[in-house]
Amino acid sequence: MLYIYSAMPTHLIGRSVFGNPANAGRLMPLEEAHLLLNEWVPNERLRLHMKQVAAVMKAWAIEKEGADEKTALKWELAGLLHDADWEKYPNDHCRIIIEELERREIDPELIHCIASHGPKYFGVEPENTMDKMIYAFDELSGFIHAAALIRPTRYEGLDAKSILKKLKTASFAAQVSRDDINDALSRIDTSLEDLITFIIEHQKQIN
Ligand SMILES: [Fe+2]
Repeated sequence: MLYIYSAMPTHLIGRSVFGNPANAGRLMPLEEAHLLLNEWVPNERLRLHMKQVAAVMKAWAIEKEGADEKTALKWELAGLLHDADWEKYPNDHCRIIIEELERREIDPELIHCIASHGPKYFGVEPENTMDKMIYAFDELSGFIHAAALIRPTRYEGLDAKSILKKLKTASFAAQVSRDDINDALSRIDTSLEDLITFIIEHQKQIN
């Protein structure tokens, strides 16, 4: 999230195993996730960020990983809920949503994915592809949205080339950690340009 990590202290969670293996495969309906967001996240811009990351996660699961409907929902829910506790519990960001999902007996993989979306901050390493992709999408998605917002035509005509240029401009969205973006990228097999193109394509309709 764009403005999340700018002054964010590290919030080491102190554990790397989440949820109960007996809950594998237990997700929640999208409606329930949206209800949680509406309750926990009054900030419309933050809600939009999570909806954009959710759309990109779902699209990646289906298009690149050949995910079935249930797996795609898991990816989508991870995107939708990953910053759910940021606004109300900034000092306990990530821990609160993790505990809430554990209380609701949700799939451990989904919880681990959320816990690993900022390894430097939460101390939880991304393990599977879903973990690695949310880490790769999170900051870039926010950065791309910020770049779109300052253009008169927003997403219309926005391409990877202009985003790559903005990433090299340290003063633009300076709070976005280029180091985090590069670190996330080093863990996956996709080029930065392809990742940006994919994000633009799948989050432009979520406004
Ligand atoms: Fe985020």
